[in-house]
Amino acid sequence: MSRKPVIAGNWKMHNLQQAAIDLTNGIMQELKSEDKNALPEVIIAPTFTSLYAANKALRDCGCGKVRLAAQNCYFEEKGAFTGECSVQMLKDTGCEYIIIGHSERREYFGETDEMVNKKAKSILAEGLVPIICCGESLAQREAGVTDYHIASQITKALRDLSASDVAKSIIAYEPIWAIGTGKTCDSTEANRVIAMIRNVVKGLYDANTADSIRILYGGSVKPNTIKEQMAQSDIDGALVGGASLTADSFAQIVKGAM
Ligand code: PGA
Repeated sequence: MSRKPVIAGNWKMHNLQQAAIDLTNGIMQELKSEDKNALPEVIIAPTFTSLYAANKALRDCGCGKVRLAAQNCYFEEKGAFTGECSVQMLKDTGCEYIIIGHSERREYFGETDEMVNKKAKSILAEGLVPIICCGESLAQREAGVTDYHIASQITKALRDLSASDVAKSIIAYEPIWAIGTGKTCDSTEANRVIAMIRNVVKGLYDANTADSIRILYGGSVKPNTIKEQMAQSDIDGALVGGASLTADSFAQIVKGAM
């Protein structure tokens, strides 16, 4: 089965609205001469406050080469949840994907596996695609519990989801020790963990679902690492933080995945 590669830029808490517009336009400019069908699925995830502006820039361009994601959501539809955004609100702002369970959200904002599961269900119910993050800490890696920890995160995140919903979802394997540190996980090791995740999906569902789900690597992905990462059997793309903040480096990563 051939899976369409995905390159997603997680802007984290960066960029005021004008900077978000400039970066969005810059990325589209860099990708202007590329054939849309040859490109991977290219996704940008600005902050909540820049989603409207970035979406407008994408629509004004109309090239359809770049899609919009949010970095978080709340699982309830509406109500007295001060400070939160529902999936429907994010869809209304043009989002087609939502990142959930990022290690920074787990660490600083108390996001649990149960919340990730509830968010995944709400996202899929609205017809959007969850980008479900998982990953081990350095202590977990050194203690030899990486596979156990990741398998547990994935099993809990996917609880009660249908096979067809899982098949269209995206998982991002991001070893916490590789995020923002410049220490990229060795490609063969990232591929081994990602193949293990695919095997977990196969055990929970079936071979077809495991073959369909896209599983990305994240953690210090740079223009000079992407080719080797994409050459691996099970790595379907990248979730990019730091290197997604300039149009040039993000576009180089996108082109490296073609
Ligand atoms: P990084 O971040 O590319 O800056 O390591 C990746 C991420 O947190 O998604």
